[in-house]
Amino acid sequence: MADTGERPKKTIEAEPLIIPDSFEGYPLNYFNLPLHYRNDLKSVLIPYGVIQDRIEALASRIFDDLRIGMPEQLVCMCVLKGGYRFFSDLILKIQNENRRRSDRSLPMSLEFIRTRSYVNDQSSNRLEIIGLSDLKTLKNKNLLIVEDIIDRGVTMATLKKEFEKFEPKTIRVASLITKRRKDKVCVFKPDYCGFEIPDHFIVGYALDYNEYFRDVEHICILKESEFSTYETFKHSFVIWSLPLTGLVQSITAALTFTFLSRTKTDPGYYSDRGTLSYAFIVENSFFSGLLLFQWLYYSDFFYSYINNSIVIDNLIVFLPYILRQLWPKTHFRDSLNNSDKNKTAPNKNFYFIVTMVTKMFYVWAKHYIGYFLNYVRFFDRANPQQIEYIYLLLVFSAFATTISVFLHTLKFKGYIGPRTSYIIYMMSYLSTFYSFIQIRIDIHPIYNRQKVRFITTYLCQQPFSSQADFWFDSQPCDNMDRSMTIYEWYYNIPAV
Ligand code: IMP
Ligand code: MG
Repeated sequence: MADTGERPKKTIEAEPLIIPDSFEGYPLNYFNLPLHYRNDLKSVLIPYGVIQDRIEALASRIFDDLRIGMPEQLVCMCVLKGGYRFFSDLILKIQNENRRRSDRSLPMSLEFIRTRSYVNDQSSNRLEIIGLSDLKTLKNKNLLIVEDIIDRGVTMATLKKEFEKFEPKTIRVASLITKRRKDKVCVFKPDYCGFEIPDHFIVGYALDYNEYFRDVEHICILKESEFSTYETFKHSFVIWSLPLTGLVQSITAALTFTFLSRTKTDPGYYSDRGTLSYAFIVENSFFSGLLLFQWLYYSDFFYSYINNSIVIDNLIVFLPYILRQLWPKTHFRDSLNNSDKNKTAPNKNFYFIVTMVTKMFYVWAKHYIGYFLNYVRFFDRANPQQIEYIYLLLVFSAFATTISVFLHTLKFKGYIGPRTSYIIYMMSYLSTFYSFIQIRIDIHPIYNRQKVRFITTYLCQQPFSSQADFWFDSQPCDNMDRSMTIYEWYYNIPAV
């Protein structure tokens, strides 16, 4: 029998306990929090004990509301991962009711599914559901979906719709938390709710931020990091204006410096005697153009348009060096071959070394920045935090392409020495490399194994091989988890 019995007399509220906007949480130093998260949390919003008390009240209310007798069962559906603590405590407390009461009881069966709608703290539109295939058994059952938090409500609304397909007798939803969103957009109201909180991003008690913080007892407010600064950046005009300036600048240079040497080969850049070759100036516009593309490709706004165009994807992401043929090409080796003419004796060795370093850097950069990062975006495998670092990397790359001609001019005019000029240019490699490393280190700061992966990825250079499997004891791909290492990006890119 379902819930058609008379309403219980108990006065336990199924509506959420409202935490007002004015309450910013309790200071951390009153709580015993794990050391590894202290710097990342702002405050404790709901202490563990309060969560438990409220769940006990909800359990009691659910017990009173639902009249189900054997052989029927209340099918309790845990929405993993975030819902697991709430689920486990709620079930435990309903079990307690079952033990305590001698007049009646509530039989339960337990089910687990997994959804993922969140990438960092941005509500995304996509919802993936795992574990739904064998749920035909739900027909005519009483279902209680147990979820951690309802934000925009999209997850629950979608999920409920999915479950309705299996024609259960009743569907109820218990959510520990609902968020009082600033934009007031919420499309789902649960039947049972623990707390209504102000619009903060919260973690702990199985709620995560990129898989961190699940191992905290209390529900805490996450400290606002540089991430929010990045949010502002992401929506600003800098996204297109900065790389566009770079492109305009390189085109202007190509139109202005027409008097420069027409040598087709030696770029003249790795030299303290000659001027830049005109070819070097012109080919710079190719790289500025590629960079502009990458900036736009990594912006969610532009990406949604670009990714729909098969032509642009194929041409710029996969085959940019077909376009490259339209531009002139200079070679590092020509600048070395020309050493006696284009370098003074004291700087000859210096230029030899920095040219080799630059060559090595660009061999790496062409692959990992020019191609790899575009593939990553093509398969949409980067999470917002990684994109943040990719933008940092692009800033440095844009710096390198725009500053090169200027530095050479300063050197040529004698305002700075040739070595100073070159070392400033080389700083951009270090910065680029630094941001490249950050893309992953920041995501898995605590696993040493990840550092091993990082090194071996570069040593092996063939992550698909069995050799790589040996190093990484091949892990099954988990499509739900978007906080991946760069190695895993490679590894998880689906076959097309
Ligand atoms: P909705 O579809 O916008 O309601 O999002 C609900 C899902 O987003 C939840 O199941 C959580 O996994 C996640 N979520 C929403 N807000 C938070 C939060 O503040 N902390 C952690 N996860 C959250
Ligand atoms: Mg969830």
